[in-house]
Amino acid sequence: MTIKIASSIRSADLSMLREEIDRCEVAGPDLLHIDIMDGHFVPNLTMGPCVVKKLRPVTKLPFDVHLMVTHPEHFIEPFADAGADYITFHLEAESHLDDCIEKARRLGVKVGLSINPPTPIEKALPYLDRLDMLLVMSVNPGFAGQGFISEVLSKIARAREEIEERGLNTVIEVDGGITDQTIAPAAKAGAEIFVAGSYLFKGGDMAEKIRVLKELGVSGQ
Ligand code: DX5
Ligand code: ZN
Repeated sequence: MTIKIASSIRSADLSMLREEIDRCEVAGPDLLHIDIMDGHFVPNLTMGPCVVKKLRPVTKLPFDVHLMVTHPEHFIEPFADAGADYITFHLEAESHLDDCIEKARRLGVKVGLSINPPTPIEKALPYLDRLDMLLVMSVNPGFAGQGFISEVLSKIARAREEIEERGLNTVIEVDGGITDQTIAPAAKAGAEIFVAGSYLFKGGDMAEKIRVLKELGVSGQ
């Protein structure tokens, strides 16, 4: 599997988002991860579709939109219109998940389902066949800069096993606390896309950090 990096702009200097995205594009991640928080599903707020729409022409990087919202059914269309490539919503949301999957599919975006650290992976397995991506949270969502919860490794491994057994193309993304210390075990467990926020943006050479993460990810596999 090719190791991919999704840089999470939540950790960018938001006073100069365009410059930060330019900096990202030069550094060469595979995806731009955009965290959407509604102040209800998680105790924090970020941005809405109007901001994402304005950012769309700024970069060629695919937009990996992570909806941490209670009612994703209201936001799938606005974010698809805003230019999202992937739209991921949570298994724990108060929505009819089948309808959300259908809606995203109809709009031609790639569909992701995310699962929080305390939720058993078995709850996500019935959806795998209809997903492009399973996003396993390795922190409780809401804030950047938290520590990786290593208990989720067995959930990644279980999902990977199921994907292989069923011969699916569903990719596993892991989000939260990804650093040079945590990427190898997550890759070993079977993840292939790694969201990195604070690790990439907190200073230093972003391109070099992406290179290091990819190298460690490959060696962990
Ligand atoms: C957490 C968000 C993450 C976060 C990752 O609620 O979903 O995408 O921005 O940030 P780090 O890499 O700092 O944990
Ligand atoms: Zn995220």
